[in-house]
Amino acid sequence: MISLRQALLTWYRQSGRTLPWRQTRDPYAIWVSEIMLQQTQVKTVLPYYERWLTLFSTVQALAIAEQQQVLKAWEGLGYYARARNLHRAAQAVVLKHNGVFPSDFATVMQLPGIGRTTAGGILSAAFNQPIAILDGNVKRVLARLLALPVPPKRAITQLWHCSEALIDPTFPRDFNQAIMDLGATVCTPQQPLCANCPWKEHCRAYNQGIQAELPMSETR
Ligand code: ADE
Repeated sequence: MISLRQALLTWYRQSGRTLPWRQTRDPYAIWVSEIMLQQTQVKTVLPYYERWLTLFSTVQALAIAEQQQVLKAWEGLGYYARARNLHRAAQAVVLKHNGVFPSDFATVMQLPGIGRTTAGGILSAAFNQPIAILDGNVKRVLARLLALPVPPKRAITQLWHCSEALIDPTFPRDFNQAIMDLGATVCTPQQPLCANCPWKEHCRAYNQGIQAELPMSETR
């Protein structure tokens, strides 16, 4: 376990992406990035993220904005429920938490639009809390690492346990960012770049030569 963590952190420090939400510890800015990134690619999110923080630079500014301004700033990102939930959640942070983004997992999970992975992503990035995540990239990485013999949807509990067991207790912020980057840039859906992978010696799929067949598809 220690060598898996160490290998991933070393790879991330050399090959991880420099992204603007990694340059801040502001939970509001990190939250905005995580909501945008839920269903949208990094390169699309980048200009929206910068513009959003110019238009609504604090949770208070977002809370008092008109819904129409909020939806206009989201225009082009799609899945507008994300913007409506973000707006409603900002109002909840102001009204219920005095404008301070909560640092407690259960409290964060009560906010509209925030599920387990988004809560973990925010709290690990903003506060370095050791909370695991399981987004699409992480599911694929773990499905290959374990050579998971079923589609990820059939093994959600096992995958969460694996993500929780792996997270580095000292550097959870970097660890979570690193495993997402590994999935986005090396452990890609098609033609994964296993030669560049810090986990190749540990990866059951790679060692069996079945990385291209995993994760198993949902169809049956
Ligand atoms: N996708 C979801 N969260 C992300 C993050 N913090 N960095 C890169 N991609 C992500």
